[in-house]
Amino acid sequence: METRTGFKVESLLVLDNRLPMFVGEYPVEQQVHEGLEGVLVARSAISDVNGDIGALQYRGIDIRELAAHSTFEEVVYLLWTNELPTPSQLEAFKIALAAEREVDAGIYEILRFLSHYMKPMDALRTAVSVLASDNPGEDNTRPESRLMKAMYLTAKFPTLVAYYCRESQGKMWVHPDPRLGHAENFLYMMHGKRPTPLEARAMDLTMLLMAEHSFNASTFAARVTASTLSDMGAAITSAMGTLKGPLHGGANQGALEMLFEIGTLENVEPYIDRALAAKQRILGFGHRIYRKAGDSRVPYIKDMLYQLCAQAGDFHLYELANAVAEVVWERKRLFPNVDFYMAPLLHMLGIPMDLLTPFFAMCRIAGWTAHIMEQYANNRLIRPNALYVGPVERPYIPIDQRV
Ligand code: ACO
Repeated sequence: METRTGFKVESLLVLDNRLPMFVGEYPVEQQVHEGLEGVLVARSAISDVNGDIGALQYRGIDIRELAAHSTFEEVVYLLWTNELPTPSQLEAFKIALAAEREVDAGIYEILRFLSHYMKPMDALRTAVSVLASDNPGEDNTRPESRLMKAMYLTAKFPTLVAYYCRESQGKMWVHPDPRLGHAENFLYMMHGKRPTPLEARAMDLTMLLMAEHSFNASTFAARVTASTLSDMGAAITSAMGTLKGPLHGGANQGALEMLFEIGTLENVEPYIDRALAAKQRILGFGHRIYRKAGDSRVPYIKDMLYQLCAQAGDFHLYELANAVAEVVWERKRLFPNVDFYMAPLLHMLGIPMDLLTPFFAMCRIAGWTAHIMEQYANNRLIRPNALYVGPVERPYIPIDQRV
């Protein structure tokens, strides 16, 4: 590979192989926890994941209760304030959030431009970055200013996703409807018509379940950025860049691509066996925390997928997904994670494949902002150490003596 001056980039690679590395024993206290597995990096009161029993709580409340009785807006209120709202608090909060959905024409222009050059997650990350800069009164030191920014970004995110979608499909955009709930309005802006009650509920439940999940990679990235006292928009942009990867939020798109590639029930076993023999990761399977009991969110998403398939009178995707889960379990003893069933569910709701990860970001912004606010409220710069394993005490060779 050459740069425009004809410089061969490969010539730099050679250096890597020549470097003598330290090989030897380090004291036990210097052991590295690869991937930070098992390391406690902060105190947090936002959510608790108990992987041993497959349980999840938001602010101490079981996700099963919230899934059965709450809405996305109610959960956002809980995550941000630590309390469930009263009926009048919830009503006022919903109205305030809905009033923030519209986005300035300038942001639309930027997104329109980006939609021709960038993939959705990149375009939306850039658009969020622009959107987040548009708040002259922002002051990280004031809790009310942080909440205002959190509301502003959470309310507008679905508008950006829907706008990107319609623009890239050559369709007219649909303005948000403040009379509709957050999830229902998103589907309305995407499709230009109101969803059925089941579709609205499926969207709301999925958003609620995806809103928060403790110290996952993207949340940690957001907190690292916030710990430097950078602004909330910068922290959200860091989180989006981290979510995009296929080992994290990018897995939902990968899982759906795999289901389509497999295509038929007969092809499930040969496909998975081929992939595992080639040492490929099966996207949508495995989870650092849920190795023992499986992902606490999966049963709800799976049930909603079933109901949407029943509404459509077509169970193909549901059966295919279950067949894949069965074979992966037989071969690797890996549980499906939330990305796996969320992908076909979103497909049934008409969300295009390349918007699955932006959708994830649109839900998780609730948790990201809660964590950023928690970080600001009790901040200490996050700055871990690394064990140096490179060469030591090398002589400096003057440039005219190097070969
Ligand atoms: N497919 C095949 N093998 C897997 C998978 C998978 N999906 N997941 C884990 N393994 C295997 C690994 O190959 C490894 O085996 P080895 O010890 O023989 O090398 C072992 O299980 C442990 O894997 P790690 O990568 O060390 O586990 P870790 O906890 O670090 O990774 C992760 C968790 C990244 C989620 C992993 O399970 C994975 O890559 N899954 C696929 C991507 C995915 O679905 N990500 C979404 C996660 S959920 C979310 O972000 C919302």
